[in-house]
Amino acid sequence: MTVTIVGSQLGDEGKGGIVDLWGDAADVVARYQGGDNAGHTVVEDGTEYKLSLVPSGAVRGKVGVLGNGCVVNPATLFDEIDALRERGLDPDVRVARRAHVILPYHRVLDGIEEEVKSDSDSEVGTTGRGIGPTYEDKAGRRGLRVGDLLDSEVLREKLEYVVSQKRALVEDVYGVAVTDLDDPDAFDVEALFEEYREYGRRLADNDMTVNAGDFLADRLDDGQEVMFEGAQGTIIDIDHGNYPYVTSSNPTAGGAATGTGLSPGVVGNGEVVGIVKAYLTRVGSGPMPTELGGVVGDTPGYDEQGGGDNEELATYIREEGGEYGTVTGRPRRVGWLDVPMLRHAARANGFTGLAVNHIDVLAGLDEVKVGHSYDLDGEEVFAMPATTERWADCEPNFRSFDGWDDVDWSAVAEAGYDAIPENARAYLDYVSDELDTDIYAVGVGPGREESVVVENPFR
Ligand code: IMP
Repeated sequence: MTVTIVGSQLGDEGKGGIVDLWGDAADVVARYQGGDNAGHTVVEDGTEYKLSLVPSGAVRGKVGVLGNGCVVNPATLFDEIDALRERGLDPDVRVARRAHVILPYHRVLDGIEEEVKSDSDSEVGTTGRGIGPTYEDKAGRRGLRVGDLLDSEVLREKLEYVVSQKRALVEDVYGVAVTDLDDPDAFDVEALFEEYREYGRRLADNDMTVNAGDFLADRLDDGQEVMFEGAQGTIIDIDHGNYPYVTSSNPTAGGAATGTGLSPGVVGNGEVVGIVKAYLTRVGSGPMPTELGGVVGDTPGYDEQGGGDNEELATYIREEGGEYGTVTGRPRRVGWLDVPMLRHAARANGFTGLAVNHIDVLAGLDEVKVGHSYDLDGEEVFAMPATTERWADCEPNFRSFDGWDDVDWSAVAEAGYDAIPENARAYLDYVSDELDTDIYAVGVGPGREESVVVENPFR
């Protein structure tokens, strides 16, 4: 069977930890979208692993697959594999030949485009990994795929076609001389050819490339268990998120089919677990109706550190939760749980279960709030509007819950769901009722042992 792990919010819900939690029962862990913009953290026996491209199952020795829906930076991939090897792991990663390749010019263009947009305060706040430009090339049918790295002739032909266009874009449209760039080789066909042919050789020598759909279907036919590891989250999905403040792929559950080559029926017949952070964080720009404080450069219209109670609370939660970007180190914007957002996510993904993380971070607060609905033009609405501009007009209607004490969370994890403080359980029951979905797990700390497991979706 399959279990699909999906972020229900804006990314950073703690998906890596949940993949790790249930990963023991999986034989294969497959990513289906995104690239090295992700930052998945797994903590095993106090040792922390931060992964951005290698699927989180690597920590447990599971086969990892980067599906065709992913964009792969081979430099990051091999750096991560080498770093994990140095730490004693032996990652077995297979890469879809249909996956697109992030090239150095994609990163350069990501940076230039963000800089240009910042002149009109409209930058997305990307991770700078070249994700958007790579998916643009995929849709524009000028991308290079992993399979192309295996064939020198095809590689050279494609580079010759595309690099001259990229050079013209940088010089003629953006007015930047390639020779002035930190990495002029990013636009040099010969240099790119040599570097990427070498990646192709390493992929081939290690037998790392697969037809992902066939590979996964064969595994399933053999009775193996497959976990799909979503990266980012529903509200930064290019179709279902708050466009244009989104990533360029489909983190939603449908992406697990298109991004691996398995059919929607395979994904739909399995479990789809929505990962929810007990509050809300956001990296980058865009609206956030339940935001508590502001982050300079990211919160729209916010350009100085303020004071105020909410600011203090935001800072408190950020520090308690370690809410700094795994990939970029940027401070995350912090807000209360946004329930209209979760209703939208539950519908778009068809969650069969939920994992609610970080309830320990909120411990010790007198009061915990949720944005239960929005007020939009004097009307109460219960789901996110489709346009980002209308979402920005939404005023949250808050509901208040009594806070819960800080307790020995490891002991709680061991004792089970009923050991969770009563007020926290009331909060969890509310979330489960609103989304009409059972809670499968509750994260009470960063480590593998610090999760209360109610149900293992593989059983
Ligand atoms: P990109 O994916 O680098 O193009 O960034 C697009 C938007 O998605 C930006 O707002 C990023 O902050 C956000 N984003 C991308 N990856 C992640 C992630 O793994 N967690 C949270 N936000 C992300």
